[in-house]
Amino acid sequence: MATVEHFASTLPGGAYYDPARYAQEIARIFGEHWVCAGRAESVKRPGDFITVTIGDEHIVVVCGQDRTVRAFLNVCRHRGARICTDGAGSANVFQCRYHAWTYTLEGKLQGAPNIASFAGFDRDAHALVPVAIEMWQGLIWLNLSPMPGSLAEQVQPALHERFASVEQFERYGMSDLVTGKRITYDVAANWKLVVENFLECYHCAPMHPEFCALLPGFRVAVPPQGMVGTGTPFADDVEQFSLSGTGNRPRLPGLTEGEDRQYFGFIFPPNVLVSLLPDHVVVHTAHPRGPERTEVVCDWLFAPDVVADPAFDPGDTVAIFDLVNTQDWDVCELTQQGMRSRAYARGGTLVPAEHDLVSFHTLIQAWLGASGAEQ
Ligand code: FES
Ligand SMILES: [Fe+2]
Repeated sequence: MATVEHFASTLPGGAYYDPARYAQEIARIFGEHWVCAGRAESVKRPGDFITVTIGDEHIVVVCGQDRTVRAFLNVCRHRGARICTDGAGSANVFQCRYHAWTYTLEGKLQGAPNIASFAGFDRDAHALVPVAIEMWQGLIWLNLSPMPGSLAEQVQPALHERFASVEQFERYGMSDLVTGKRITYDVAANWKLVVENFLECYHCAPMHPEFCALLPGFRVAVPPQGMVGTGTPFADDVEQFSLSGTGNRPRLPGLTEGEDRQYFGFIFPPNVLVSLLPDHVVVHTAHPRGPERTEVVCDWLFAPDVVADPAFDPGDTVAIFDLVNTQDWDVCELTQQGMRSRAYARGGTLVPAEHDLVSFHTLIQAWLGASGAEQ
């Protein structure tokens, strides 16, 4: 991230509550870039599906009979009814409840009662509308743009900023991990406040004493976390990253001995926050649900054999980040409450330890384009 020596400005308060600004972000950022929509493991077998919402669009992601995972706008081509109303499940076909048009898992219109055989009715023209999809690092990425850019080009800069090499990150083997625990949080704050909070640890000393006891580097304003290729080391007396600081879960299979006592945190803009630990990975996915509301899905990922073990108990591990999450959402919501004040109409100040936020704001402005410049 960019190095800035002195103080910088935040965005003005309006950027965090103005409905027009929010609509612009949904259209230009979430509507034109790759957005993480969930876990690839949810759609592994033919018929497996999940539904997700990005801005105003509702999307179904489904594994076809050919084991190819596709995404479609979840909108019937007849009169526009939402077709799939479950959050997740397994299906043989998708049938619209309204007039019973039926679509295959591959999105083709299979049946339309009484009219499908009419001359002049073009079934192909009434297939479900596809959405660009890629699977990467065990995550489902969707892009609503009709001309999606490269996912690699979008995500690679984050890796180069944080790691000495892409291989250093790939050793965590995120594609092979499985979800041991998921918690979904409803946060009364703009999505950018959630991301910004993750991008700085200036707040860690006052807000996260338990977290800092495990990772004392975060007690200082500029921890080693900021250095490329260097994680934040565990405190000497800490065995494992858990609330109690104890545990003996083996390190992830790709890691080496020197990598088993450190924490890496970084983001894949716009909406993925990643925390790498030696024995597990925590992925937060932030979904904007309104100018002042964000749904945050937090997944704790482990090696498959660890989760398959009947004795698997992630409780102590989950407890630390669940606590940190709760502490973070509290201050994100407190900050949201200040955004409408005249005291914040022109924004506030970023101290040097918070300058990763400057890079985030620069990226957002670039994605919004000139039309976002006035904010
Ligand atoms: S709206 Fe779906 S079948 Fe009519
Ligand atoms: Fe925090």
